Amino acid sequence: MGVEIKVDGLTKSFGRDLIWKDVSLTIPAGEICVMLGPSGTGKSVFLKTLIGLLKPDTGHVVIEGTDIANCSERDLYEIRKLFGVLFQDGAMFGSMTLYDNVAFPLREHTKKSESQIRDIVMEKMELVGLLGAETKLPGEISGGMRKRAGLARALVLDPEIVLFDEPDSGLDPVRTSFLNQLIVDLNAQIDATFLIVTHDINTARTVPDNIGLLYHKHLAMFGPREMLLSSEEPVVRQFLNAQRVGPIGMSEEKDADELAQEKDQELPPLPPIPLQLEPSNGVPRRGQREPGAWCREHGVTPPPGSFEDNMSMATGA
Ligand SMILES: Nc1ncnc2c1ncn2[C@@H]1O[C@H](COP(=O)(O)OP(=O)(O)OP(=O)(O)O)[C@@H](O)[C@H]1O
Ligand SMILES: [Mg+2]
Repeated sequence: MGVEIKVDGLTKSFGRDLIWKDVSLTIPAGEICVMLGPSGTGKSVFLKTLIGLLKPDTGHVVIEGTDIANCSERDLYEIRKLFGVLFQDGAMFGSMTLYDNVAFPLREHTKKSESQIRDIVMEKMELVGLLGAETKLPGEISGGMRKRAGLARALVLDPEIVLFDEPDSGLDPVRTSFLNQLIVDLNAQIDATFLIVTHDINTARTVPDNIGLLYHKHLAMFGPREMLLSSEEPVVRQFLNAQRVGPIGMSEEKDADELAQEKDQELPPLPPIPLQLEPSNGVPRRGQREPGAWCREHGVTPPPGSFEDNMSMATGA
């Protein structure tokens, strides 16, 4: 289970506004990827292009042999069934109970009987820890519960690919930790391919197998977590360590004066690479590798203190 997504030479603009160009990457089957980037760099547009909700100007998105950037509506309809999407705000229907919200895709896209639907809905509600809340309306529950309900709904059609658009926005740090653990557990359990857009650096540092960074209308870097977390490339380093010093300014790029001013400022050392979050039931992840394996294979010395079993690092404190 879980399928690969191969993105090749993808370019997207709206009218004269170029959003990003020549984005190429392969999202490996069954692994977790995180996509980062300053606000407005087109992360949500990227997700929408992957499900064919937006058409790119040029390039290909190949899933199971079908190029969804250039296929018929009919093929697109079929391919979309592989996806589960968790929208930023949960995108719940406000007048429907959580039960009906989660049942919605099943009633819409399958011919299942109400009793079959009931089994699936209850299974997914249990998976995300919402049993007992079925009759609540979205307006009656907390933001964290709404996210989990959105996740249950994204899972009812047993997706091969799950896209998450800022699943952790608006959540407190403890709920974010629980949600991250839930994402890692789900990935191990359902074995689907996960792509998460987030602004949470701790999530980006501990949850994924691979990280991508969109910046300045292109994909600045994409690769294994350890590669980006040990990278000295200025944009990657600045973003992944949430620093002010670096090429990224308040309105995207710093100008020459701003950059000249910080020329002599010393960069703080790279922080240690934390251990990757593991599934709570002890089962390994599909893409699991020994801590430090990528660094060893590529002759990269990770920052001092990396991969030590230190809870304060794993939680980003
Ligand atoms: N349907 C659309 N028509 C025209 N422009 C659009 C459309 N959708 C998005 N854009 C533009 O594309 C750019 C990227 O938007 P997008 O929502 O993908 O950013 P983002 O990286 O997800 O930002 P954030 O981190 O704030 O969510 C923005 O300038 C936005 O105005
Ligand atoms: Mg967005």
